[in-house]
Amino acid sequence: MLSVEELLEKGKEATKLSYSPYSHFAVGAAIELDDGKVILGANVENASYGLSMCAERVALYQMVMQGYTKDQVVQMIICCDCEDLPYPCGACRQVLSEIYPFDKPIYVANFKGDILKSNLNELLPYAFKAGELLD
Ligand code: THU
Repeated sequence: MLSVEELLEKGKEATKLSYSPYSHFAVGAAIELDDGKVILGANVENASYGLSMCAERVALYQMVMQGYTKDQVVQMIICCDCEDLPYPCGACRQVLSEIYPFDKPIYVANFKGDILKSNLNELLPYAFKAGELLD
């Protein structure tokens, strides 16, 4: 398992890949899996602003496309070179709730060294879950 410092280094690497010419707010995400693989994501914006995709969702969908499931997740980080912390938006929390374990660490960090350790139980209480939709 990577230390949070090592995970942040991966997140910084991801942040460099951000395509954010409109907001100039580069965000990176890194998900560590139980086989040691680390999946990266960065926000990808569009001139039709609403089509922009957050870093954490890019990383999560990349995780799915590489054949991983939530059972293989160890931890993740979301980070930016910013003053405050890049807390995941509501849409990302809902996406996380379906493909990321509720009890695994989600670190939110900036490059100054501020780090919040959280998880989905804290970030999305009373989540809407697929439940009956799958019956
Ligand atoms: N953004 C993320 O990628 N993740 C977050 O947790 C918060 C916001 C992106 C979306 C958009 O490209 C930019 O940050 C400004 O909202």
